[in-house]
Amino acid sequence: MSEEKVSRRDFLAKAGGVAAGAMALTAGVNLSDANASDGLEGLPEYNGSWREYYKKLDPEAIREKAYKNYLTGMHCGESTFAALTEALGFPFNEIPTQTMWFGLGGVSLWGTTCGTLLGTSAVVSLILGRSKKDTVGLLDELMAWYSTEPLPFKKNSGQTKSVSGSPLCHVSVTKWSRKSGNATGSKARGKRCARLAGDVAAKTAELLNAKLIDGKFNREYALPGVAEKCTGCHSMKSDFEAGGFTHGKMDCESCHEDAHMLD
Ligand code: HEC
Ligand code: HEC
Repeated sequence: MSEEKVSRRDFLAKAGGVAAGAMALTAGVNLSDANASDGLEGLPEYNGSWREYYKKLDPEAIREKAYKNYLTGMHCGESTFAALTEALGFPFNEIPTQTMWFGLGGVSLWGTTCGTLLGTSAVVSLILGRSKKDTVGLLDELMAWYSTEPLPFKKNSGQTKSVSGSPLCHVSVTKWSRKSGNATGSKARGKRCARLAGDVAAKTAELLNAKLIDGKFNREYALPGVAEKCTGCHSMKSDFEAGGFTHGKMDCESCHEDAHMLD
């Protein structure tokens, strides 16, 4: 494969078309291996992380921005990504925010991971890079917080708050709809997810500030599916026969209520 460089403007223009993947291949640009690239024109080199470009964020400004973004048609994934990258400025604001639009409704309305978490996680991963300690550590806190807190956060609002117990869009939206009595297709549900986008983006800004500016990042929320009795056997650390054929940190008993008839 040729190592020829492609100008970023060129690349982005072409990437808008259907043949984006093929263009990236023929141009010798491996998007999934940013560490190995020496930087597209206009973007600085990526040497394992972009934490040197991080600057302190104002969580309240981001909370409002992500909320408003959602209502413009960005939905949950793009709204959070756009609020954070715009506030951070260069080089983050060079990345087209449409990258994260697919997050709507938990990935193209499939109800998998909540899009607000996808948009924010992409920013965290971009800033902190391939680090289990830093990226995974921070996102563990974000996902566990999301699963535990009554949301949307907004004080004194008439909006119903609910605890999802899960980072899944399906669970989060369904529990809220049942509790509030609003259909999932209603305007009220859209506003609720817009507020959620604000809250998750703001929480991410708080966590990043704590980690990169104030040096005060501490884990506060327990991982729902890890602290308990199941992952002693059911985890990547076990042999297959001992139960090591599963994976995840979600609350096991939200789906497997009576496994082994334990308790
Ligand atoms: C002492 C080790 C151990 C612990 C603790 C444990 N499991 Fe298992 N589990 C196993 C093994 C081994 C199997 C496979 C058994 C088999 O194939 O017959 C299994 C099978 C299962 C199955 C499929 C069979 C069934 O009973 O439905 C589910 C679901 C499951 N475990 C969930 C859980 C959950 C949820 C927890 C925590 C509440 C848990 N397990 C705790 C070892 C364990
Ligand atoms: C969102 C729902 C959900 C959550 C949360 C979840 N699981 Fe599962 N799990 C499933 C589904 C669906 C399957 C596939 C079931 C099947 O094969 O019939 C499965 C399969 C399994 C199996 C194999 C079952 C079998 O019949 O062999 C085990 C063991 C298991 N999960 C353990 C866990 C543990 C431990 C956790 C927590 C860390 C967990 N699960 C969290 C939905 C979930």
